[in-house]
Amino acid sequence: MTLAKAPRDSLDPIEIASRDEIAALQLARLKQTLSAAYQNVPHYRAKFNAAGVHPDDLTDLSDLARFPFTTKDDLRQNYPFDMIATPVHDVVRLHASSGTTGKPTVVAYTQKDIDVWSNAMARSLRAAGGTPDDLVHVSYGYGLFTGGLGAHYGAEKLGATVIPMSGGQTEKQVQLIRDFRPTIIMVTPSYMLALADEMDRQGLSREECSLEVGIFGAEPWTDAMRGEIEDRTGMQAVDIYGLSEIVGPGVSMECIESKDGLHIWEDWFYPEIIDPETGAVLPDGAFGELVFTTLAKEALPMVRYRTRDLTRLLPGTARSMRRMEKVTGRSDDMLIIRGVNVFPSQIEELILKEPTLAPHYQIEVFREGPLDSMLVRVEARDGSVADAARVIAGRDLAERIKDLIGVTASVQVQEPGAIERSLGKARRVIDNRTL
Ligand code: DLL
Repeated sequence: MTLAKAPRDSLDPIEIASRDEIAALQLARLKQTLSAAYQNVPHYRAKFNAAGVHPDDLTDLSDLARFPFTTKDDLRQNYPFDMIATPVHDVVRLHASSGTTGKPTVVAYTQKDIDVWSNAMARSLRAAGGTPDDLVHVSYGYGLFTGGLGAHYGAEKLGATVIPMSGGQTEKQVQLIRDFRPTIIMVTPSYMLALADEMDRQGLSREECSLEVGIFGAEPWTDAMRGEIEDRTGMQAVDIYGLSEIVGPGVSMECIESKDGLHIWEDWFYPEIIDPETGAVLPDGAFGELVFTTLAKEALPMVRYRTRDLTRLLPGTARSMRRMEKVTGRSDDMLIIRGVNVFPSQIEELILKEPTLAPHYQIEVFREGPLDSMLVRVEARDGSVADAARVIAGRDLAERIKDLIGVTASVQVQEPGAIERSLGKARRVIDNRTL
């Protein structure tokens, strides 16, 4: 582990190429993606025809805006294999993301797709300061979820040593961290907090802990949470983003030397930001919904996939490729309470400012008569709930929530350990209004 930026000669040349070179590669690859989708997937052909566009209409990157979007619904309608653009015989791997309702979304990979993904993950690990000398502890779940195997193949591609722990068995995880002395951990930020609690319990101190870098993603987390994890564990925390429909983790990654948002690996994934209401493409810098088109995927080419994640595009810094701002919410997670839009991350920031509270929380929304109500359940960091509750009452977290988002919330401080711990993605919101 170098804890420094990767030497320039270890980067893929395209990471530091000129914008013109990147754009030329994107245009050539976009044409291939659109043709393959049109020729091999009846669903795309029908949608392109209905919109009156043909792959030959793309002569400039801006022409992509004329093509129709793809949504999770398109994948559901074509469940399980009808969006696959290659003979099923060429598919070497399937993954699936469990939707909260209905059928899962199935994604497929050829050997070449797995290679692209592994390279994207190896590049991401390198951006986090990873080298072949590192020991990488993977606590993302293995299985149909893309986190575990994505991290695993990337770490192997980098030449590092992988510990394929998967999620769960928290006590054993910490024991192995103590014994094997990994330098990098890859895990959801919420499960990292559970691991940090277990480290405390087992008496593995910040000074003794071998971990130098944590590569955290798969769920929204705030800069306040980054500060909490870094202070508590002594490691550097960097953000990794991705989604199964596009490839899995490794679509974009924060560089350790700048920690200023996530560089999108633009040679493989073409980003746009759109107005979620009108679908219009917005200029770089404007806030909106992130849309991706894959540039090198064979089995499942994705044309203008609407991620529902809200962010904005920013110019490159540590790399020539554009950055996306940390995703702190997705339109699906946005709560509308008494007509006001609230993201769990806004509440998270306020909780983390309160030293007597642990960083674990859950938001419950319910109906009280005709009105929506919000209950924020938090945990005392240590000591008695009564003490913490008094401090909270004094500082009035509820009042601050009201000041920030204009919605009245009640706050309930519970005993340490009372809030459900996630082994993967945390469930932040329980919405009882639909019951
Ligand atoms: O969560 C892939 C992944 C695994 C990414 C491990 C990073 C690390 P899905 O299960 O398909 O794939 O969920 C994708 O998770 O659209 C975002 O809403 C959210 N998400 C992923 N990474 C981040 C992140 C994986 N760094 C969905 N910050 C995405 C915020 C994230 N949200």
